[in-house]
Amino acid sequence: MAEPTALTRLTIAGKRRLTPDIWEFTLEPADGGALPSFEPGAHIGVETPSGAMRQYSLVNDGRAPERYVIALKREPDSRGGSRSMVEEAAVGGTLRADAPANSFPLAEAPGYLLIAGGIGIAPIRAMADRLDAEGRPFRLIYCTRSAAESAYLDEMRARFGARLTVHHDGGDPDAFYDFWDAFAEPADIRVYCCGPKALMEEIRAVSGHWPEGRARFEDFRPVEAVRPDDRPFDVVLHRSGRTVAVPADLPILEALRGAGIAVPSSCESGVCGTCKTRLIAGEADHRDKVLMPEERADFIMLCVSRAQGGVLTLDL
Ligand code: FES
Repeated sequence: MAEPTALTRLTIAGKRRLTPDIWEFTLEPADGGALPSFEPGAHIGVETPSGAMRQYSLVNDGRAPERYVIALKREPDSRGGSRSMVEEAAVGGTLRADAPANSFPLAEAPGYLLIAGGIGIAPIRAMADRLDAEGRPFRLIYCTRSAAESAYLDEMRARFGARLTVHHDGGDPDAFYDFWDAFAEPADIRVYCCGPKALMEEIRAVSGHWPEGRARFEDFRPVEAVRPDDRPFDVVLHRSGRTVAVPADLPILEALRGAGIAVPSSCESGVCGTCKTRLIAGEADHRDKVLMPEERADFIMLCVSRAQGGVLTLDL
């Protein structure tokens, strides 16, 4: 099993409700020490009160940060991570977090088109603030259901003026913003898009004739850990002899956690390798993006993978 990431303890210095479902947390080092710097587009992994690790985009200026500001959405089908942040994380409490990482960095370009949908505004806002501070040309299109469900709207209107376009669809898929005008002619700019799957698919479609790499996307859910047709199964823990039932709607990692068995994890999205565990018997349904083909018979990533059917025996 891979070594767990070293976590820093942070104090919750602020908690602000931005919309009915989006919350902003201000986190400061609990020991008063310095925080690692970061660039726009970065995120941190936070150990939420439920015990689940979740990745949240950093919103503030990361050049010499005295705090980390993150924004998150309480998803209706949240498996406990963001919901526990909203319901259980309180000002004055502490959380553990890992160092910033960035899979969505701003590249040098003559200009930028930033596109955000819903909570996707978190990394996009950080990018817009940096571009604005450096006097670099950009345009920001922000798509939400309504003004009430739009985070940072007044602040961004005041700061970005005509560079900000806001579109509300009222929840009607047919009222989608028409991006074609912005993409009809390929331009020497970079496009950064973060938001719901439908928005990112739309931008992928309208930018299909643009040169490779001009459009970048941020998706924190690269792997579907639980699917609607998933079935329950059991895992047998070889070392302790215990059997743990994995319900249809939970990953193995969370079922183990619920049974009081701690397994190191970080991304909980099948991309980092931290939860890699030896598979002693059984046939796995591998859903991760890290195991090599030759490892798949002998290992499993507990955060996203499941049983093909029957029981899995794990080296735990
Ligand atoms: S926790 Fe990252 S792959 Fe499982």
